[in-house]
Amino acid sequence: MTPGVQPLIAGNWKMHGTLAEARALAGAVAAGAKAGAGAGLLVAPPFPFLPAVAAALAGSQVALGAQDCHAAPKGAHTGDVAAAMLREVGATHVILGHSERRAAHGETDAVVQAKAAAAMAAGLIPIVCVGESEAQRLAGEAEAVVRGQLAGSLPPGFAAAGGIIAYEPVWAIGTGRTPTEADIAAIHAALRAVAGPATRLLYGGSVKPGNAKEILALPNVDGALVGGASLVAADFLAIAAAVRPGG
Ligand code: PGA
Repeated sequence: MTPGVQPLIAGNWKMHGTLAEARALAGAVAAGAKAGAGAGLLVAPPFPFLPAVAAALAGSQVALGAQDCHAAPKGAHTGDVAAAMLREVGATHVILGHSERRAAHGETDAVVQAKAAAAMAAGLIPIVCVGESEAQRLAGEAEAVVRGQLAGSLPPGFAAAGGIIAYEPVWAIGTGRTPTEADIAAIHAALRAVAGPATRLLYGGSVKPGNAKEILALPNVDGALVGGASLVAADFLAIAAAVRPGG
């Protein structure tokens, strides 16, 4: 945790669930979110479920995020979604540059940077993901890779706009494996040096109720980006409850 920075536990639902399941999950998270609790909560459902999840979250402490946006404000981009459209259906945040998008959709740092700038222009808070591959970790390049991604992916004004950074080692996503606490702390210290004192720095990659307390207690870890465990309300809320109130 970082003094003065409110922690955030963000759930990335990826491409999972039915509309009915999305409504039920959002309702359960909203019901379980405690006012005045240590951490803020956010869920990021698939695009088509955003309006229904916004309705399910109405009046709660839980924020709504999307999982991607296009860099352009509008235009001939079949299948893409503009940041302002997300804002209009109630999203306040958008996850950008997730490793699954970098890998499967060829998103470069420059693309992520343009998307983050578009999100900020539309009044959305970008959550920009960075993280090394297993080969890069084994080669001792993790910190250099992450520094390079940050340099290329963050647009000017990112920190002032409340932009959030998520460190997600690619090899830890959905695998049940996590870096050592020392390795997470080292990368987050490097992120902090680039991001400034007030930027929220999330850790992501196999965060579960069983490891959340240790990870969230590390210096410069201001919350978590949670995939698999965010699909079970009780697990997601247990991760949020692992945040020590007051840092
Ligand atoms: P995981 O996913 O928690 O299932 O590892 C994290 C993420 O991809 O954001």
